[in-house]
Amino acid sequence: MNNKKNILRYILCCTILISIFIVILSACINGQSNRENAYILLPASDENTNADNNAINISTSTLSYILPDPDTDGDISVENALSTRRSHRSYRNESISKEQLSQLLWAAYGITSSNNFRTAPSAGATYPLEIYAVIGDVTGIEPGLYRYIPKEHKIEQTISGDIRKELGETTFSSTNSKMIIDAPVTITYCAVFERTTGRYGERGRNYVFIELGHSAQNVYLQAEALGLGTCAIGAFSDIDVSALLQLSQNEEPIYLLPVGYISG
Ligand SMILES: Cc1cc2nc3c(=O)[nH]c(=O)nc-3n(C[C@H](O)[C@H](O)[C@H](O)COP(=O)(O)O)c2cc1C
Repeated sequence: MNNKKNILRYILCCTILISIFIVILSACINGQSNRENAYILLPASDENTNADNNAINISTSTLSYILPDPDTDGDISVENALSTRRSHRSYRNESISKEQLSQLLWAAYGITSSNNFRTAPSAGATYPLEIYAVIGDVTGIEPGLYRYIPKEHKIEQTISGDIRKELGETTFSSTNSKMIIDAPVTITYCAVFERTTGRYGERGRNYVFIELGHSAQNVYLQAEALGLGTCAIGAFSDIDVSALLQLSQNEEPIYLLPVGYISG
């Protein structure tokens, strides 16, 4: 009888020990693969899977414009644009062309390869940025808010009418407001963080901001090469911009870049 009890106790102990061992082992494997994931910044399988999974609401507006093909062989060298680039805060009251708009958006996030890779690098090709153009004065384009669709190199209207004044009012300084009101277009960066954090956890938030820097610098350099100027604006109310632009719940506004001909 005592022997039987001892055997049962022995089996129970073994079962508990094996279970603990399995739990610890699986936690280690998981931790290891998460760490690996954070450093191997390659596309999951097919490019853009995360971007597609975390899609934002697409407007039902029918007003859209296919943009002219971008020029990939301009007259100004990268070195030249780098050495003259500055933040400019004063813009002339002058329209820019559809070609110039096309070039700016392409530089920001345009497609440059058959597998849909873009002008800016992206952690794991998750492409968390959504780029909008607040258009006030671009020749041949109705004023309004437009979402840039890189795959088709087109813009789709999500709000009609000139909202530059209202966008200007969301910023924290009169200089910022004036830039946005005067500039013919403001490139507006939003992020769908889940596309990147879904793969890399909280570290993915850093990756999104790093990617924003890559893309925004492209806009700075492209503006310079087109004879235009821009100035990064980070000082604005996220809540006010989200409300004005009627952004989806999973989109957050992160940067504003007014672009126009420099005055003075
Ligand atoms: C993250 C970030 C946020 C910025 N926000 C503003 C802003 O709200 N208003 C502004 O006038 N300039 C802003 N700037 C522009 C900086 O003031 C500018 O880059 C700096 O003065 C250096 O000048 P440079 O760009 O001509 O070299 C911002 C720049 C960065 C990188």
